[in-house]
Amino acid sequence: FNVPAPINEPVLAYAPGSKERELLQAALKSAYQNQLDIPMYIGAQEIRTGNLKPLTPPHNHKHILGHFHQGDASHVKLAIDAALAAKAEWENLAWEHRAAIFLKAADLIAGPYRNELLAATMAGQSKNAYQAEIDAACELIDFLRFNVKYMTEIYSQQPPVSPSGVWNRVEQRPLEGFIFALTPFNFTAIAGNLPTSAAMMGNVIVWKPANTQIYSAQVLMKVFKEAGLPDGVINLIYVSGPVAGDVIFDHADFAGIHFTGSTGVFQDIWKTIGTNIHKYKTYPRIVGETGGKDFILVHQSANAKAAATAIVRGAFEYQGQKCSAASRVYIAASLWPEIKDSILADLATIKTGPVEDFTNFVNAVINEASFDLLADAIEKARNNESTEIIAGGKYDKSAGYFIEPTIIVTKDPKYATMTQELFGPVLTVYIYEDDAFAETLELVDQTSVYALTGAVMATDAYAIQQASVALRNAAGNFYINDKCTGAVVGQQPFGGARASGTNDKAGSMINLLRWVSPRTIKESF
Ligand code: NAD
Ligand code: ALA
Repeated sequence: FNVPAPINEPVLAYAPGSKERELLQAALKSAYQNQLDIPMYIGAQEIRTGNLKPLTPPHNHKHILGHFHQGDASHVKLAIDAALAAKAEWENLAWEHRAAIFLKAADLIAGPYRNELLAATMAGQSKNAYQAEIDAACELIDFLRFNVKYMTEIYSQQPPVSPSGVWNRVEQRPLEGFIFALTPFNFTAIAGNLPTSAAMMGNVIVWKPANTQIYSAQVLMKVFKEAGLPDGVINLIYVSGPVAGDVIFDHADFAGIHFTGSTGVFQDIWKTIGTNIHKYKTYPRIVGETGGKDFILVHQSANAKAAATAIVRGAFEYQGQKCSAASRVYIAASLWPEIKDSILADLATIKTGPVEDFTNFVNAVINEASFDLLADAIEKARNNESTEIIAGGKYDKSAGYFIEPTIIVTKDPKYATMTQELFGPVLTVYIYEDDAFAETLELVDQTSVYALTGAVMATDAYAIQQASVALRNAAGNFYINDKCTGAVVGQQPFGGARASGTNDKAGSMINLLRWVSPRTIKESF
């Protein structure tokens, strides 16, 4: 059974002088003026605890956009109770009616909420208009629409063979209990996808976003409610991660986690779930997309200009804070001079600054902790004998957390920034001798503790084949002659293995199948 694919949401350009840009600028202006008061959403209630925490734009951290109401362990318990109370009605609602709610949510984001959601993503997460558009609008709309296609296929699967006198069938049951959606700061689309993909399959959800994504999370919650999502199906709480975890992972009805975030947090959660395994009614589903140290490998046969463009865009779009961002690059020595000139020429045209100026390509990194980590890595590279900083290297946190796009060239392919995730606009380059391609493939594979995305740039078909085979396990999303970012829902299902996650491919049938537990029924007559 094959359902026709929806069309990917077209990307709006917000060109200078356009009506689109004017409306988005107006929405951004209100985002700055509204003085938000953001409640938690538990069951039918909007909960205001009075424990107010400020929300500030990373590019202008002295400005307060408003506040959110921080909760505690009692709110986690309330959210679980609300989810479980909503469960029976939600899971018994015909799947077509559940689907309609999420299709309507996609339409609301595509239409009336687009600017508000983009403005929230720009102001709260420091994404420029284009990056906000491809994330909060296009990718999220695609997740919702394509997941409805995949759910339709799951619920419409052919039953197993039934000999005479027997009717065999398979029922796709929601999981027994509630699902915890624990989401990261860097993609509004991922934050929206993790609770909705599990909810679509009939599950009830407790959703805890990253503090730095609460603004856009609240806009999404308003969208889901307006689309007709019944109270209690998704409950949005703002509680510190460890406090939420203590309550959730101790609960007998905990049935699964849909996580995206860092590897360390996910591994700790997995350990806790393991320790508590005897407490649960059922083995919980553990689905997690985690850290990355994504690579671009340039073969001597590559087109140098195309490689340079892939490197600049792959490494510096959204300040290198895409899970898929290139952060280590291996370049054949004969191509380096041309690629270097091309990269430096590109970087000379790139502006860094706040999101209100639509010509800024690079904005601020998410918070002070991230800024300090990156500044420290830059200083260490400046003072290391095996490394040279050939671009950027400046940083300033007086107004916002700005780090210039920085390129470190190292003679040591195992140098710290070639292996550790930094999650920012700092790229490390290693130059290898043209005739050492095979050894370099081995090196890339061996140093790929993470395995999320990777790219090979080459025109030589033999080299492409060699890289494809040698790096089979080094990336869950592998690109040939393209940058390693920008997977599109419905076109390149997304996810990695090794320390990058359980590879359950966001925006795919594989992912949706993790949120059901099939029951086989044999009826004899
Ligand atoms: P993070 O791990 O700091 O936070 C993720 C979520 O976990 C947040 O909601 C946070 O509040 C919560 N959390 C943090 N510590 C916790 C704890 N001890 N117990 C329970 N919850 C806790 O990640 P982040 O900084 O928001 O996002 C960046 C990370 O996410 C990077 O490592 C990036 O590679 C990864 N990421 C991966 C993918 C992917 O598809 N593989 C996609 C996006 C982001
Ligand atoms: N779709 C996003 C990317 O691939 C996660 O960059």
